[in-house]
Amino acid sequence: MSDAELQPPPGMADLCAPEIFLWQRVEEVARQLLVRYGFLEVRTPLLERASLFVRAIGEATDVVQKEMYLLQDRGGREMALRPEGTAGVMRWVASGGSDRAEARLYYMGPMFRAERPQAGRRRQFHQIGVEALGPASPAADAECIALQVHLLQAAGLEGFALRINTRGVPADGPSVVAGIRTGLGGRSDALCEDCRRRLAVNPLRVLDCKVPQCRAVADTLPPVTEFMGEGSRRYFDEVLRLLHLLDIPVAHDPRLVRGLDYYVHTIWEITHPALGAQDAVAGGGRYRMQLGGRELEGVGFAIGLERLVLALQKYGVRPDESAVRPRVWIVAADAAQMGDLLVLLQALRRRGVAAGMDLAGRSLKAQMRAANRAGAAWAVIRGAAEAEKGVFILKNMSTGTQEVMDLAELVQRLIEP
Ligand code: HAM
Repeated sequence: MSDAELQPPPGMADLCAPEIFLWQRVEEVARQLLVRYGFLEVRTPLLERASLFVRAIGEATDVVQKEMYLLQDRGGREMALRPEGTAGVMRWVASGGSDRAEARLYYMGPMFRAERPQAGRRRQFHQIGVEALGPASPAADAECIALQVHLLQAAGLEGFALRINTRGVPADGPSVVAGIRTGLGGRSDALCEDCRRRLAVNPLRVLDCKVPQCRAVADTLPPVTEFMGEGSRRYFDEVLRLLHLLDIPVAHDPRLVRGLDYYVHTIWEITHPALGAQDAVAGGGRYRMQLGGRELEGVGFAIGLERLVLALQKYGVRPDESAVRPRVWIVAADAAQMGDLLVLLQALRRRGVAAGMDLAGRSLKAQMRAANRAGAAWAVIRGAAEAEKGVFILKNMSTGTQEVMDLAELVQRLIEP
């Protein structure tokens, strides 16, 4: 294989130390917090029938139109690598997976979208997502947003901004579409090519187009809430009131749309200024979908882990490597000690001590270098002379002082905190 072939595929990455420590910390913090909020983990397949995503996310969305990795399985079925987590979790619920009508579920793992890779935009990326099933309720939406804010803060992120809007209910659709079309008047010529197409199939998407000329036009439109019924407006006002009570700073962004068609009522996005063009660190909303004859409704969000870790790094949050340093490094001063020292190594680990040893039979000097490289606090050294007397040398790696002791004392010293 050539060097280029040894690289991961474009837009995908190998994750390793030291960065992985930050990932693990975020995942750990998330698991602890999600349990406190009553969420249980669910792991669904990375590969699903493509029709699931078409049905759940929407035929006209960019994700379905342009970004799915499609493949045929051996039975000729059209499959897709999951571009997001909500659809798979809802399929599982619809299949009878959860016996609780108001299941609270979370997931962590890779998602795949065939997008043009750039900073913060990957083809394989990772999400921590939650889905709280249950009927439309402003309190449930506010709780979900509060959880997301709590989670990002617990991970160590500061300085993020929360924008919120409403999609209303499906019955609002025709008047929203008519309102946007009328509002645009004869100005559709001023829109980009994509937006002229969107105007026909999904006019809402014109509102969140990033092209400056489309933004200028969208800015002149009244907020979409004006085209919605009284019930949708009241629902949204109540969400805003509850977020205010919860002391969560939020900005109403009437142009926020979100690119997935399953949303109803509340939608939101969290951005971070350290991220550049791809600044959405997380997004969520209330959704409704029909799968297998079942009507499913819930509220949820997903955090993009690559972007969260990037923002944390830019904020100066460093991975904690001390947790993976061995406390002790065992050094065989002559090869004949290897067997006894291997037994000691395992005994220490069984008693909870992080311990390492060079098993390749290298020189004493090379083993001491390895102890230093590993960052061990102590080295245990034993050669033929010590073996004869039934003792060990315990060396403090930061001061260089050495003591001689028997096995019982050695173990005692090393298991002490
Ligand atoms: P989403 O906004 O498509 O929502 O994705 C959520 C987050 O995933 C984004 O805010 C971003 O941080 C990250 N993300 C998305 N695409 C990429 C990419 N190509 N590279 C890196 N990170 C990316 C959803 O996926 C919904 N399922 C969220 C949800 C759950 N709504 C309700 N429940």
